[in-house]
Amino acid sequence: MTTFSMTGKHVAITGASSGFGHHFAGVLSAAGAKVTLGARREDKLSQRVAELTDAGHSACAATLDVREPDSIKNFFDQAESTFGPVDVLINNAGVESGAKTYAMIDEEDWDFVMDTNLKSAWRMSKQFTERLQAHKLKSGNIVMVSSITDRRTIKGQFPYAISKAAMTRMTEVMALEASRYGIRVNALAPGYIPTDVSTLVVNSPNVDDFVKGIPMRRFGDFADLDGPILLLASDASSYMTGSVVTVDGGHVCGSL
Ligand SMILES: NC(=O)c1ccc[n+]([C@@H]2O[C@H](COP(=O)([O-])OP(=O)(O)OC[C@H]3O[C@@H](n4cnc5c(N)ncnc54)[C@H](OP(=O)(O)O)[C@@H]3O)[C@@H](O)[C@H]2O)c1
Repeated sequence: MTTFSMTGKHVAITGASSGFGHHFAGVLSAAGAKVTLGARREDKLSQRVAELTDAGHSACAATLDVREPDSIKNFFDQAESTFGPVDVLINNAGVESGAKTYAMIDEEDWDFVMDTNLKSAWRMSKQFTERLQAHKLKSGNIVMVSSITDRRTIKGQFPYAISKAAMTRMTEVMALEASRYGIRVNALAPGYIPTDVSTLVVNSPNVDDFVKGIPMRRFGDFADLDGPILLLASDASSYMTGSVVTVDGGHVCGSL
C-alpha cells in the first residue's frame, strides 16, 4: 500500500457532502490523507467530518459554493488554517439539469451547469495554483472528475455532456500549462454509478436496455473508484499528467 499512500498529503475535495466526494473523503483519509471537505450543505459535511474523525482520521469541512469566488477563497483559507497548504485538489462538484434537450434548456440551465461543472474547476484550480506558488511549494496535484459523457452521450444530457467534454479538454490544456509549477492534472471519467446526479438514467423505464449496453452488464459501485482515485491522488501517478482514467465497465466500448 505504500505506493498509494496519502500520508502527509492535504487533500481538498469539492462536492464532498454526498456521492463520490463523500466516498473519496473516506478512501483518501483511510490511506493517510488529511482531508478538507467542501460543498453547500453544511449539515452533511459536519456529519461526514464527525464520521471520519470518530474513525481516527484528520478531516475538516468548510462551506463552499464553487460558483462564488469569495466562497472559494474562504474555503482555501479555512483549509489552510486547519491543515496547512493543500497538496491535492479534487474538482468533483457537479450538477445536471434534468432530462432536457438543447431545445428545452434555457439560459439559466446552461449557466447553472456550465458554471458549476466547468468554470468552477478553472476557478478552483487557479486559486490552488496561486496559493501553491505563494507557499513556494514545488509540487501539486489536481484531479478533475469528468465523465464518459465527455465522448459518448445520450439524449437529454445537453449542457452536462458539453461541460464534461470541455473538462476533459481543460485537463489536457492545464496539464501542459501547469507543469512549469510542478502541478500534475489528470481526470477520472466514471461511467454510471447510482447517485443523485445519475438518478434520471438509473431510474429510467429503459434501464434494463441501458445496462445491456455496458459490456460488464452492471452499473458501477463507489468501491470501483477506490483504486483509480488513489492512483490519481497519490504519488503512484507521479509520471502521469493530462491523462483521463476511464472507469465504466467498458461502457464507452459498447456496441453502437
Ligand atoms: N454518478 C455518476 O454516475 C457520475 C458519473 C460520471 C461523473 N459523475 C460526476 O461525479 C461528480 C460527483 O457527482 P455525484 O454523482 O457524486 O452526485 P452528487 O451526490 O449529487 O454529488 C454532487 C456534489 O456536488 C456538490 N455541489 C453541487 N453544486 C455545488 C456548488 N455550487 N458548490 C459546491 N458544491 C456543489 C453537491 O453538494 P451540495 O449540494 O451540498 O453543494 C454534492 O456534494 C459530479 O461532477 C458528476 O458529474 C457522476
